[in-house]
Amino acid sequence: MTEKTDKTKKARNSRSAIARVLIIDDDLTLCSMLIAQLERKNYTTASANTLEQGLELAKQGGWDVILLDVQMPDGNGLEFLPQFTTTPSYPEVIIITGHGAADGAEKAIIGGAWSYIEKPHVIRDLPLHLARALQFRREKQKLKVVPVALKRGAIIGNSAKLSRCLDHLATATASDINVLISGETGTGKELFAHALHENSNRADQPFVVVDCASLPDTLIESTLFGHVKGAFTGADKARKGLIQQADKGTLFLDEVGELPPAIQKNFLRVLQERKFRPVGAGRELHSDFRLVAATNRNLNEMVTAGEFRSDLLFRIQALTITLPPLRERREDIRDLVICFLDRLCRRYNQETKGIAPDLIEALMSYDWPGNIRELYQTVEHIFAENSEAPTLYSIHLPQEFRIRFARANVQQSNTETPAKQLPLWKEYKYQMEKDYLKNLLLHSDNSIKEACRLSGISRARIYQLLDKHGFSGRSQT
Ligand SMILES: Nc1ncnc2c1ncn2[C@@H]1O[C@H](COP(=O)(O)OP(=O)(O)OP(=O)(O)O)[C@@H](O)[C@H]1O
Ligand SMILES: [Mg+2]
Repeated sequence: MTEKTDKTKKARNSRSAIARVLIIDDDLTLCSMLIAQLERKNYTTASANTLEQGLELAKQGGWDVILLDVQMPDGNGLEFLPQFTTTPSYPEVIIITGHGAADGAEKAIIGGAWSYIEKPHVIRDLPLHLARALQFRREKQKLKVVPVALKRGAIIGNSAKLSRCLDHLATATASDINVLISGETGTGKELFAHALHENSNRADQPFVVVDCASLPDTLIESTLFGHVKGAFTGADKARKGLIQQADKGTLFLDEVGELPPAIQKNFLRVLQERKFRPVGAGRELHSDFRLVAATNRNLNEMVTAGEFRSDLLFRIQALTITLPPLRERREDIRDLVICFLDRLCRRYNQETKGIAPDLIEALMSYDWPGNIRELYQTVEHIFAENSEAPTLYSIHLPQEFRIRFARANVQQSNTETPAKQLPLWKEYKYQMEKDYLKNLLLHSDNSIKEACRLSGISRARIYQLLDKHGFSGRSQT
């Protein structure tokens, strides 16, 4: 540490430094390569080879970004993440993970890391990650005072994880930066996008939703950009596209991962210049919209697979809000159930119902792959079947749920058995997805349209999942 810290001290005095980066990694060769790479670009650097040394340096403050390795000689970097992110300069932390440790990496992001890079790609990928993190810091510094009282709208829950997302939401409302909301299906991405609009200074302007998964292939350009009269056969009237409709308001690109490659390219230009040309028009129009995008897919993986443009991803995620799945914030289930039930009682003019603790316990023991949407549907189901009951107990749950909850309980008590008896997470997830699909096809009578409605999954994604699990040979409409 000493030698490199000395080097750093010299560099710290350099007036032309553009940002300060602390590298915490026990791989000395990698550290020197990164230092050389960063100093060539005028960054000020220091490195530490243990977590203890790293923390000591971090606490001295002044760092914009910390590169943090996971496997360190004196512990696991991820466990120290909160300590690093709360050091005096509140640095952004980029995690350097081992190859293929994606699960841990995702955990890191949810835990507050800026991003993660797999070790073999660190030299190649670092400049882009660093540029994004620094741009975000600059935007953050430009932000005005964060509004104290955020109008939460219909967002329920007080868990630490949800509160963190609400903090990010509050930060985002104070500026016009592009926001990407990511999370599994049913975690509230659209709800958050609405809340962002409602709390911004564009609240009394339009909120325009573009469902990228269901844009009709042939009309995609005219839907987004509009067209002039006579632009193509059937265009007997001029039409305003969604981008123009969002002028002065918010444009919400839902399921942005489904945007076809050709449109991704056009859209990038629109984002850079806020200008677009309606189909058949001679000149460009301007639209002053604020962009919010949502995805339930891993866009970084899509970039690696060549399915999503990295420059577009860079543009749309100036700030990312990652919504946690419900199973990671079970403590919110009670509040959600009380609120949903109350809503239903009011809607159907019924007296407020009591909720027995065993019902909450049963609901909390389940993993909710469909997240809050699935919880709401379950509460709706219990309510509809038991409208006369003054108090709802777990016995009121539909039989299929009681069986499912019982299974989940058995699985939970099995966690005390040796770890080697647990299935691999990947296998377990695969099987869960397959079971869900099987059930979904059953309940929707093999109709894709109905399956989309019931599950809230996009058409394109359902086809993908059917294909993955070998259901695609069946006849569906
Ligand atoms: N925190 C929350 N409090 C109350 N209701 C919520 C919350 N989050 C989600 N919901 C409700 O759950 C349902 C699903 O939410 P939403 O449509 O926003 O999810 P989504 O993440 O966009 O899902 P998808 O990826 O399937 O489109 C909606 O009815 C929404 O109102
Ligand atoms: Mg949605």
